[in-house]
Amino acid sequence: MKKRIVILISGRGSNMAAIAASAKSGILSDCCIVTAVVSNRSEAPGLELAGKSGIPAVVVESSGISGIEFDRKLTKAVEIFSPDYIILAGFMKVLGPVFISRFTGKIINIHPADTKLHRGLGGYEWAFKKRLGTTKVTVHFVDEGLDTGEILGQREVDLRGADTLEEVERRGLAAEHEFFSEILRKIFAGRDSNANEWSDIKCAE
Ligand code: GAR
Repeated sequence: MKKRIVILISGRGSNMAAIAASAKSGILSDCCIVTAVVSNRSEAPGLELAGKSGIPAVVVESSGISGIEFDRKLTKAVEIFSPDYIILAGFMKVLGPVFISRFTGKIINIHPADTKLHRGLGGYEWAFKKRLGTTKVTVHFVDEGLDTGEILGQREVDLRGADTLEEVERRGLAAEHEFFSEILRKIFAGRDSNANEWSDIKCAE
């Protein structure tokens, strides 16, 4: 059975679009279907991208309401789609306890740094300011902490010669777009798989 996934976004949505493309006709096409995209900001450009891909796009506005109210509203909005997994792709709100406990072990995030070295916002600014020669993007389970959940995989990004923040972001995002779908394929196929390469793994029969 293909996994049902809901993708949460807050802005541009380039990771969401990459996953949607993989699910439609790429390496996730036998693994999952994207049942909805949910944004906490009505002006997120990713909403239009989702619409263009024919994916239902829902807004649960986070501004102007309390964190607790948003937590409850988001939980209800996502529950409707009966997801097997919830994918955070540039979702910039910290999830509340109602949502986390309802979907424990099913929430996966991509972070633009090594979560052991840099948590929270600004992963590429951090790498750029430190003039790192390499950085890592991290895919991890989400728990109640800030970027503290179990690491599912990391991909190294070569930053040698990247002398602007834009170039650091460009290289990092290119890695994110490829790596996120590869890791998701492994997760959706079952975590006990011993295969190292995504292409060695079978998803739906
Ligand atoms: C990505 O770089 C993602 O890793 C990062 O935001 C960007 C979203 O881009 N996420 C975080 O910083 C989460 N704390 P996108 O909207 O184009 O996918």
